[in-house]
Amino acid sequence: MSYGHGKVILFGEHSVVHGRPALALAVARGAKVTATTVTDGPTTLHIAPWGVDIDTGDEPNYGAERLQEALNVARIMYNDEHELALHAEMQLPSGAGMGSSAALGVAVIRAMDAARGIKRKDDEIYERSLAWERVFHGNPSGVDNAMATHGGMAIFKKGAALQRIVPRHPLRLVAGYSGSSSSTKEMVASVARQFEKEPERVGKLFDAIASIVNNGKVALEQGDLKGLGQLMTMNQHLLSSLLLSNQVLEEMIAASLAAGALGAKVTGAGGGGCMIALVDSDETHAKVKAALTGLGKTVYEVESGS
Ligand code: MEV
Repeated sequence: MSYGHGKVILFGEHSVVHGRPALALAVARGAKVTATTVTDGPTTLHIAPWGVDIDTGDEPNYGAERLQEALNVARIMYNDEHELALHAEMQLPSGAGMGSSAALGVAVIRAMDAARGIKRKDDEIYERSLAWERVFHGNPSGVDNAMATHGGMAIFKKGAALQRIVPRHPLRLVAGYSGSSSSTKEMVASVARQFEKEPERVGKLFDAIASIVNNGKVALEQGDLKGLGQLMTMNQHLLSSLLLSNQVLEEMIAASLAAGALGAKVTGAGGGGCMIALVDSDETHAKVKAALTGLGKTVYEVESGS
């Protein structure tokens, strides 16, 4: 079985596309893929529980064209005749900001390698998975793929080595799904347009987020959960000013804070998808969960994975 980690971004989504750092952590959910060699027919991929079937054949897989394109991108990297039946078990919602496409890409590439007896370094898996991710997101920073490949907690910056973080205490986060998915590609394009129109104002927002990332690292290493929560809420204000939040997400964030969360923010592309809230006890955890489910939202337990 091959694996790709899901992730949440604690600080720095979007500004990371523009060369600033982001702080992210892998979660104990991801994509698992198994591969069986087949003697006839193209490579196929079944994605449970999404109920999606795609293949590398000549006919378009209507409704799943992007996934089919990504599978083709992964398949043509091998100059051989080795065809596979791939079975994916997704533990992540799609379009929710938890890195499902990168996790799937990493797991598929690892499964394709494993079936061929190829042992590849993680850095190369990461590079290959970027080609998969570009099919969906056009201009990904690479943060999702880095976390999907390496796991753990780290600061990611384009073109720099991944900077590992060892938090003083394990983090307890609650993720709530707003009920609507969003297109990372469109959200990234919207921020790029704002940056083009107002480079000075938006550049300063990116720089402010970069400071939050650096302070967040210190708070994590010192075990300052209160400070960490405040930084999350500050990051949320900056994301809102980049038009990445919406009324539903704001309601979820307000409800989490009112229930005792130390901080809360949108995570990932925004405009829909998930928000995360930081909690520091079983009691607050239960209260935040109850507040979000009271709003009719699906809640995901987010444990920091390995
Ligand atoms: C998506 O999980 C994170 C974004 O910053 C896009 C990217 O980094 O490629 C919104």
